[in-house]
Amino acid sequence: MVDTEAFIEDAVTEIREQVGDANAVIALSGGVDSSVAATLAYRAIGDQLTPVYVDTGLMRKGETEEVAETFSFMESLRIVEAQDRFFERLEGVIDPEEKRHVIGEGFIDEFETVAREVDADYLVQGTIYPDRIESEGNIKSHHNVGGLPEVVDFEGIVEPVRDLYKDEVREVARALDLEAVISERMPFPGPGLAVRVVGEVTPEKADVAREACHVVEEELADHDPWQAFGAVIGKGTGVKGDNRVHGWIVAVRSVESRDGMTARAQEVDWNTLQRIQSRITGENENVARVVYDVTHKPPATIEYE
Ligand code: XMP
Repeated sequence: MVDTEAFIEDAVTEIREQVGDANAVIALSGGVDSSVAATLAYRAIGDQLTPVYVDTGLMRKGETEEVAETFSFMESLRIVEAQDRFFERLEGVIDPEEKRHVIGEGFIDEFETVAREVDADYLVQGTIYPDRIESEGNIKSHHNVGGLPEVVDFEGIVEPVRDLYKDEVREVARALDLEAVISERMPFPGPGLAVRVVGEVTPEKADVAREACHVVEEELADHDPWQAFGAVIGKGTGVKGDNRVHGWIVAVRSVESRDGMTARAQEVDWNTLQRIQSRITGENENVARVVYDVTHKPPATIEYE
């Protein structure tokens, strides 16, 4: 890239011109893309923008609190507590694309309610270049690209980072003084932990995945991965104390990538893997085993579903 200061100035001017005196909404996920888009839009139009953060119950550990704190300067920020409604919708859903669909719909319902309430004419989105390419290629439905524009009859869509790659968005985040926890954050998928839980998503499985992601992110921070996480991939037999248990199997994955379109599994040393294993099995008595995923993308995808 790119002159970040010039980019920011142009983006702010453009948003101001496009939105004028109208109201706008943005779905703020806590990820770097929507955080940058929201901050640019907030600079441009202030409280005419309502950023909406929906807690689906599928967020990272501590994420809701972090978002509330980081964006506390936006008086119009809305935090929607929708965990129970999402788990209800997900009951019995096992097909991966169906899961995305159910979550996308749930999200749209929550978002739409706020958009109507604040009488929003514009939708701001944190769509980046690779999102558009993958969606156009129909590789996978990304709910941050499709869906939202159709529900509320928006006058226009504002996509200030649509031509940027992830590393460029991070540069802009740093220039906007977004805290390191946001600007250096690993990408987190729109459907959240649902794509890190194979099969039905229950509150229990989501909790196991959330704790595992937290441990893996902490332990592998110095490996500088594109993404590193734990996923609940099934059940298997283990021994805890004197008992045989049928517990969760957690897969640990850590990949290098530039844009998520291809990725390489990272080489992680045995001691680090053992530490991760002992923390995950130690902190949750229902986890029976931990495995490490050595598959690149392709042939695997980064996420499990
Ligand atoms: P995959 O698993 O397809 O992921 O190799 C590529 C990148 O995209 C993220 N990802 C998603 N992001 N909605 C999103 O917003 C989704 O449905 C979705 N699925 C995967 C994934 O975390 C990785 O960075």
